[in-house]
Amino acid sequence: MRICVVGAGYVGLVSAAVFADWGHDVVCVDIDREKVERLQEGDLPIHENGLAELVDRNVWDGRLCFTSEFFLGLFNLELVVIAVGTPLGPDKYPDLNALWNVVNLLKQYTRGRLTVVVKSTVPPGTCAAINRYLNEDSDERFDIIYNPEFLRQGTAINDFQAPDRMVIGSQSNSAKILMAQLYESINCPFLITDWLSAEMIKHAANAFLAIKISFINMISNVCEEVGADVQQVARGIGLDQRIGPAFLKPGVGFGGSCLTKDTQALVALGEDHGVNVWLLRDALQINHEQRLRVVKELSEQLGGLEGKVIAILGLAYKANTNDVREAPSLEIISRIVQLGGEVVAYDPVVDMDALQNRISFRPAASPYEAVDGADAVVVLTEWEEFYGLDLQRIRTLLKNPVFVDGRNMFGPKVLEKHGFLIEGGLSGEKIMGVA
Ligand code: UDX
Repeated sequence: MRICVVGAGYVGLVSAAVFADWGHDVVCVDIDREKVERLQEGDLPIHENGLAELVDRNVWDGRLCFTSEFFLGLFNLELVVIAVGTPLGPDKYPDLNALWNVVNLLKQYTRGRLTVVVKSTVPPGTCAAINRYLNEDSDERFDIIYNPEFLRQGTAINDFQAPDRMVIGSQSNSAKILMAQLYESINCPFLITDWLSAEMIKHAANAFLAIKISFINMISNVCEEVGADVQQVARGIGLDQRIGPAFLKPGVGFGGSCLTKDTQALVALGEDHGVNVWLLRDALQINHEQRLRVVKELSEQLGGLEGKVIAILGLAYKANTNDVREAPSLEIISRIVQLGGEVVAYDPVVDMDALQNRISFRPAASPYEAVDGADAVVVLTEWEEFYGLDLQRIRTLLKNPVFVDGRNMFGPKVLEKHGFLIEGGLSGEKIMGVA
């Protein structure tokens, strides 16, 4: 099949690379010329396990190419996949400008019939609007499909190749047949729905994940007050098949480009329709407060943050990605600096230079360099390499025995063994207070 993927972000790049790997002929188009030039030179703008190899192999084999010339991608085309970003706009609804630009270009340049697969996350009602616009003066020339993507950064390729389910929002039989051909190597339940339901599924799935994380964080805070071990509580409830063990890790809360944005969009949609969406609002509020708890805990343990140096380990919103969108680290660092503190940060993959233009911190080349002479250390990303940290060395390098384990990587008993004082907080279990 000849496919054009529009948008070389996470979803677009992964989709393009995997489609090519399945043997399709793929052109990936992006208006960002600099990004396209980098891609043409084999330099990927994102850090994603296995993606560089997959892109290289398929470019080398001639099945995948990149261009910023939209009309080149439309030559002899059977399928166009729209995977452009839909960031949150000022009115709490996603900004659909990039999406509508693509739709406009499709209307302008397409000759003959074309199937348009929308993978970008869009508010319910968008696909119907695209359909009305594209087919207003033609006889169903464009076939619109909403095919949401549920891939997680860090495991994106595997998630794309082996998803839990495939959701296809479509009104037409020929579109469904085309989707069955495109995804013939995928073995999972296929759910065929109307456009609106498919658009809602994407928002509801992300909102549910957000609620689940905020739920366990709220339980963690209660556990801390009463002296229970939240890890055991999470395990105890996760063994119930109706609840399940996933997404019950307490910590600094969720970040990333989707959970917050999609939950906020659902809040806006519900409120516009007069629906009580407090459950969603509370999930977002708990997530925000969870970040502030880190700062509060630091401040309590150090007797204020004025003049204090805080070492931050991990800037990415989660491990195995260089993405800092909505990352807890950004809000936490800004707050520490606001309160008069200074931050030294280490992250194995995040582009420190770019981030220094947005927030104030000193970059460190290693975790040990970051903690050397600092007043306290905070772990904000669950990087694999942090599991191997020499805690004894960290304790010696730090001025004070203050370790805030924002991802519950070590557990209070291990930290206590290495001489750290932990005032419960994000560590689940209260060990001792610092006067
Ligand atoms: C998410 C959805 O999982 C995916 O289906 C959707 O398409 C895009 O958004 P992603 O942003 O890659 O994917 O991250 P995910 O692994 O879901 O984690 C989201 C955030 O929640 C991260 O910040 C993570 O650290 C945090 N998290 C996750 C927790 O704090 N606790 C958990 O138990 C799980």
